[in-house]
Amino acid sequence: MGKNNLQLKRRTFLKGTVGLLGSGFGLFGLNDQRNCGPTQSDMLGPYWSNEHPSRTVLANSDEPGSRIRISGIVTADDCSTPIANALVDVWHANDQGCYTIFQNCDSGNSDNDEYNLRGIMVTDENGNYSFESILPGYYPGRPRHFHYKITTPSGTELVTQCYFDNDSLISDAFASNHGDLIISLNEDNGILSGMFNISMNQSAEELSLENSNQLSPMDFEIESAYPNPFNNSIKIDYSLEKRGYVDIEIFDTNGKWIKNLVGSLMSGGKHVVTWIGDDDNGNIISSGTYLVVIRFGTRIKSKKINLIK
Ligand SMILES: [Fe+2]
Repeated sequence: MGKNNLQLKRRTFLKGTVGLLGSGFGLFGLNDQRNCGPTQSDMLGPYWSNEHPSRTVLANSDEPGSRIRISGIVTADDCSTPIANALVDVWHANDQGCYTIFQNCDSGNSDNDEYNLRGIMVTDENGNYSFESILPGYYPGRPRHFHYKITTPSGTELVTQCYFDNDSLISDAFASNHGDLIISLNEDNGILSGMFNISMNQSAEELSLENSNQLSPMDFEIESAYPNPFNNSIKIDYSLEKRGYVDIEIFDTNGKWIKNLVGSLMSGGKHVVTWIGDDDNGNIISSGTYLVVIRFGTRIKSKKINLIK
């Protein structure tokens, strides 16, 4: 957190100072005359998918490329008030400049993971996120970049990209207009690291008003599970107070994990999911009492269900 604060202060300082210096110095990060403000948006591009998994290690361990760790903080537009439980969706090209799912990528890693180099993180109570991947490769006409799509708990969205300084494909003109999207990288024992902080187009006042208006932030309900007991399948109805990341899992009464039913970003409102009494391998399991466990934000609720064969 200390390092992040330092980075924020430095960025704010630089942004505030450049007005005195004037523009046209061609220095990364020194372009913006505002003291602070929302991070600039950038193209979504054609390779985003709405089915990215929740994870913080995006690249398979033997994915070719330079290993890289990125961290940062998501804040309100004052660049200091943290936003907790924001979704940070990241996707990028492999070392050869190829996007998985959409292109025929020979990534060279041993896992046949079609969502390799893609993942969604959730910011912690201090607004922090971090992930590990490989340095994105070049593809024709583009500097190296990570794609980002950030969504705050109240639904404010930012689509942008993160670039790296000393990239020969970043023109001076681009750098002078996109300074807040260009970060510097350090190298330690062959591992690159960098910090990309993001300020959303939402004021700290709006944020605190939202928080004080919600006695139970990120609340949800398991409305019903029917039929219960069940023989062939059971429908679980649940409702979310607002948009957010939902995990629904089945456990037995000894706490043994059986299956993950849902693990994705869902809109607010009512939803239903069906379970046919199978485990993660698709095998029908034996009669007994099981638990449906729903996790939403920091809250967990469960319901007992009975499978009778
Ligand atoms: Fe791209």
